[in-house]
Amino acid sequence: MAGNKTLTIIKPYAVKNGNLGAILHKIEESGYRFAAIKTLKLDKHEAEAFYQEHKGKPFFDDLTDFMSSGPITAAILEKENAVADFRFLIGATDPNNAKEGTIRKMFATSKTQNAIHGSDSDESADRECDFFFSKRERL
Ligand code: TYD
Ligand code: MG
Repeated sequence: MAGNKTLTIIKPYAVKNGNLGAILHKIEESGYRFAAIKTLKLDKHEAEAFYQEHKGKPFFDDLTDFMSSGPITAAILEKENAVADFRFLIGATDPNNAKEGTIRKMFATSKTQNAIHGSDSDESADRECDFFFSKRERL
């Protein structure tokens, strides 16, 4: 079914600042099933590969430095219309523009350090799920 799966990353400082459990709880109570989950640290090259679509943009270096600066938690989430609904749940890229009650409004500290990732399309979700998880890691 189209759109029933998305990939999220709880970004470095959200993990480090002790917000991991609160964010996972918010995701779960919003109706998502965790089909796979793990905590890991990306190196700079892996962060650049994950964000390849943004290569050459002014924020690319800061973004990939940040994403390789500490532990992240990656998860595959399942729900009907997961891609679009999850983008709504996390809120705008810049937390200053994110609506009240969204995860970025609650937990992000800046546009770059914005707490959480969500896939932007079904094609991105497929690519991003494959980036983090092998077939036998998916439930
Ligand atoms: P983007 O894919 O545009 O945003 P989103 O995560 O909402 O899909 O950008 C990827 C990440 O790059 C974004 O989460 C934070 C960072 N970023 C900046 O640091 N500055 C910027 O101006 C933009 C557009 C993004
Ligand atoms: Mg994006």
